[in-house]
Amino acid sequence: MNVLVCGGAGYIGSHTVYELIEQGHSVVVADNLVKGHREAVHKDAKFYEGDLRDAEFLDRVFGENKIDAVIDFAAFSLVGESVTEPLKYFDNNVYGTIRLLEAMNRAGVKKIVFSSTAATYGEPENIPIVESDTTVPTNPYGESKLTVEKILKWSDNAYGIKYVALRYFNAAGAHISGEIGEDHSPESHLIPIILQAALGKREKIAIFGDDYPTPDGTCVRDYIHVTDLADAHIKAIEKLFRDNTSSVYNLGNGTGFSVKEVVEEARRVTGREIKAVIEGRRAGDPSTLIASSEKAIKELGWQPRFNTLSRIIETAWKWHSTHPNGY
Ligand code: UFG
Repeated sequence: MNVLVCGGAGYIGSHTVYELIEQGHSVVVADNLVKGHREAVHKDAKFYEGDLRDAEFLDRVFGENKIDAVIDFAAFSLVGESVTEPLKYFDNNVYGTIRLLEAMNRAGVKKIVFSSTAATYGEPENIPIVESDTTVPTNPYGESKLTVEKILKWSDNAYGIKYVALRYFNAAGAHISGEIGEDHSPESHLIPIILQAALGKREKIAIFGDDYPTPDGTCVRDYIHVTDLADAHIKAIEKLFRDNTSSVYNLGNGTGFSVKEVVEEARRVTGREIKAVIEGRRAGDPSTLIASSEKAIKELGWQPRFNTLSRIIETAWKWHSTHPNGY
């Protein structure tokens, strides 16, 4: 199959490109390299540098390649930044995807897998969270992704574009080869920050709040390995070709770990002392986010393979310890 991966130079996108190529697919990557890294793109993928909001650029990509399906990762994803700069998020994440859907229509491409998020739910009403739960995002990032999910629904209705939206919980870890991994600037995610402290690149990590209604008072999250996420995208494409129906799935391991548990496990994996201090809560953090991924397991035939926190941190450590300054 020929797959166009938008945002294929980013963290989850680059891992998905590796999986696609390992499974024998042909891959075209489109990325504006604002957040992505050219070095993260697999050497066997065809690379185009450009922006989804540029219709001429997209027409060139679709015109020069026979694309069977699209996977769209191209988006900004910093929750805090989205609160202070909402228009930047709606412009890139929503308008960019609208341009992409228009180009797909012009090229007659009718299948898309969309990178969505647990942030579409906002403050959860049930744990574990199921796909039919209420979606009330508490930040513009989650709102932008939920908006695209709605645009996809109506694009299916009007143009017959079939989609799978994948709502990731906490993406973590790195490719088992150690060749690609997580490199954000600025970094705000827990596991890379802990590993930067293990490497001595930070003096300490701050634990944002220990007064949450959780067993040890720190926030609980469902960490899911990036290669397992990548695998789900390929299974989602296969499903679109199998039954040609649109759907939404959560992707997580179904197990929650507290911030303190993650720090403790990172100390064990790295063998390093990692200094942690308790600070105040970070605005907008829900206390607990755990996915029910039963629907994806049943309908996509997906099964996470890196399903322990130690495997996730070990692969992340392999990447960070060999690439202390990123790419
Ligand atoms: N945390 C700390 N210290 C840090 C960084 C994070 O204590 O230095 C805590 C956070 O408060 C949170 C947990 O570690 O409780 C995980 O934080 P991350 O920033 O790694 O991840 P989030 O759960 O905030 O965000 C993730 C994704 C987002 C997505 C969101 C859905 O990264 O893209 O889940 O709620 F929107």
